[in-house]
Parts: sequence; structure tokens; C-alpha cells
Amino acid sequence: MSRREQILAEMGLAPLWHLRGAEHAAEPELVTPVADPRPAPPVPIAQAVSRVAQTVLEAVSAPAATPAPRDAAAKGSGLAHMGWEELDQAVKDCRACGLCKARKQTVFGVGDREADWLFVGEGPGAEEDERGEPFVGQAGKLLDAMLGSIGLQRGQDVYIANSVKCRPPGNRTPEAGEIAACHPYLERQIELIKPRLIVALGRPAAQTLLNAEIKISSARGRVFDRHGIPVVVTYHPAYLLRNLEDKHKAWEDLCFAVDQMQALKKN
Ligand code: URA
Repeated sequence: MSRREQILAEMGLAPLWHLRGAEHAAEPELVTPVADPRPAPPVPIAQAVSRVAQTVLEAVSAPAATPAPRDAAAKGSGLAHMGWEELDQAVKDCRACGLCKARKQTVFGVGDREADWLFVGEGPGAEEDERGEPFVGQAGKLLDAMLGSIGLQRGQDVYIANSVKCRPPGNRTPEAGEIAACHPYLERQIELIKPRLIVALGRPAAQTLLNAEIKISSARGRVFDRHGIPVVVTYHPAYLLRNLEDKHKAWEDLCFAVDQMQALKKN
């Protein structure tokens, strides 16, 4: 058993699914499916996410020359010139949505502030709310194992953030308005980190990053463009804990992400 297979077994990802061509760096072609050339179904627009949402294909094939109003709002919100400490304080002081009422503390993000890899989740759960760090509960353990399986480690060339910085009560999915209220902070984190590649963990993260209606099952294996930064999507670790049969797909997605990163580093 190879080291990778051993790690996968530890992750509960066995039996190993060998990805066609996974060992070879794929061409970093935006939008074009690389690992899995399934035709993409039409993608409906998420009106709740943004009144100006574009379809994903529009977003990637014709990256907006001017920022979308949501991003423009972020730029105009006073965050644009903030460094890390100020931004962290702004998040701590934030009362922009109702999530501030029940939080124990804000969960800003963690990791290497100059990372090539940015992983974006949904929002803090109970343990994250308690400890002030993203992905420290059961889903976090799986995320750490997923990172380990592709040779990554929390804090080393990896930054982990969430779509919302405060815990939604009862661990419910954050509402579109809550995600939108928090988006400027994520936006500024991305500007500061300048990651080479973003991995969206689950649907809310994918939708907020891409400003469009996304279905993970049809967005997998594709590279999307977020103002010049490639984004790939995969299942959220908490979903994988409930749907063990989909773990092999996450493994496939991580291999795809590694291929993209290798290709990006060559260019
Ligand atoms: N789920 C998330 O999306 N983020 C966390 O920080 C923890 C669980």
C-alpha cells in the first residue's frame, strides 16, 4: 500500500478511487472540465445571492472588467485599506447581521497569511464558536485529514476561512443576507492572502465565492475564475461525515486541485 493509500485508509476514503490521469498535472484550462468531461447542465442564477449574479459560465468566460457591485461595496466599505490586525478587529466589532447576537466570539480564519491555498467553508459550529478557530470540530478533523492526504497541513501554505465569521444558531446554514453581510471580510482576506487557488468547501462557500447558483455535483472537476483567482469546489467535510459514500469524490476533487496548483506553479 502506498503512503497515499495508507492516508486515505486513515481518512476512511478507501477503497481508493484512482483518478484518470491524476498523476499528471492537467492543463489549467478555465471552465473546461479536466478530470471529468461531463457536460455541464445549465446553471440557474441565484437571485438570493445577488441581484447582479451572473451565471458561472458568464463569470468565467468573461471575467468582469469592473467589480460586481457587491465587491465594489466591499471596496467602498472602508475595509479596502485594512491590514490583518485592523480587519480582525473589524470582524470582532461587527454587528452587520443577526449572527452577532448569539456568538461567543467571532471566528476570523487561521493559517499562513501568504498561503498558496485558501480553503473556504461555511460558518463556525459550536466548537469553533468556543475556540475562535475554524474547523476544529469533527468536520475540522476530516478537513485536516483531507489536507494531509495531499501533503498539506493547516497553517503551512494553507489558510482556512469561512463564508460567515459568526456561528449560525443551531449550526443552520447561513442565510443569503448573512453571507452577503460578511462577504466584505472574506473579500479582504482574499485580497490580503492573494492565494494561487481557492477550494470552496460546500455549496454556500461556492456560491458566495462565485456569486452564482452552484450545484456541487455539477461544478466538481471544473475551474472557475474569481477575479483572476481559480476556484475549485468540493463537498463540505460535514456533508462527507454524513455521506460516506461521497468521500471518494472529495478525494478526486483534491487530486484535481493539486493538478491545478502544479500547473499554476509551472506558469
Ligand atoms: N464548518 C464550517 O464550514 N466551518 C467551520 O469552521 C466548521 C465547520
